[in-house]
Amino acid sequence: MIHGGAGALQHIQAEGSEEDFAQSINGILAQGRLKLQQGSSALEVVEYCVCLLEDDPLYNAGRGSVLNEYGEVEMDAAIMNGSDLAAGSVAGIKNIKNPIALARLVLKKSEHVMLIGHGAMEFAELWGVECLPDDYFVIASRIKQFQEAEKAGKMVLDHEDIEQEPQRKFGTVGATAFDLEGNLAAATSTGGIVNKRWGRVGDSPIIGAGVFADNETCAVSATGYGEQFMRTVLAKTISDYIHFQAVSAPEAAQAGIEYLVSKVKGLGGVIVIDAQGRCGVGHSTSGMIYGWIEQGGESHFQLT
Ligand code: GLY
Repeated sequence: MIHGGAGALQHIQAEGSEEDFAQSINGILAQGRLKLQQGSSALEVVEYCVCLLEDDPLYNAGRGSVLNEYGEVEMDAAIMNGSDLAAGSVAGIKNIKNPIALARLVLKKSEHVMLIGHGAMEFAELWGVECLPDDYFVIASRIKQFQEAEKAGKMVLDHEDIEQEPQRKFGTVGATAFDLEGNLAAATSTGGIVNKRWGRVGDSPIIGAGVFADNETCAVSATGYGEQFMRTVLAKTISDYIHFQAVSAPEAAQAGIEYLVSKVKGLGGVIVIDAQGRCGVGHSTSGMIYGWIEQGGESHFQLT
């Protein structure tokens, strides 16, 4: 399963047509399927699919990330392996072509789970991770979006109720996978929220909030208003529904979104694969962009 963000998508044309998104999502699903068929692990496949999403300027992650209050890109990403609960995460990073690949290196090569800012950048340099100049990341549609948000941003600060921004889109990307060995993995990557405060970190790199994987329950990747997903620890909450109530991925995704809404009036969505390979999606926003292939079947694309 992969996703490309949630929100009110009626104004999505600024970023690309529905056809552009369909082509991108179906193409990435096809490549993910091939990798799984060739025996790649779920962890390898979620990293691979999220790298492709990060490289595509249609999405708010990697190239095409939204801009913070200073008009700069600051990215967050995390990855988790369901067989041993190993996890890697990076936050507040700049100029890294594929933040999810850096998160995977944190998982593989460090003794830590999360690295931030300059420390994460130094770690990237140590391992020869590809860095690119600012102009690779900052694309024209994001500059326009930032300028509009900057204007409206003053209003947002005065009226913090997110419900007053019905057109908002949360363009985080993510992937969940179930491999031939029965292992689950999840990955999430984002540029965050338009016009966010410098140094702000959302849910995407927080294990248990924007990403979670456990072979005994499920793999989850989230998109939405990060603060609400952090306060509800939503990815782990969804895993707990499966653990304690033995529900399926579609039921757990729905229960998780109901919890998000009832507790904090949360806005966003989740993709979930459970330990039987069943796929579930839930969102409280009017729309979400996602695609899935269930147990080797047909590829599906959804932009609602
Ligand atoms: N869910 C992405 C963020 O809030 O940063």
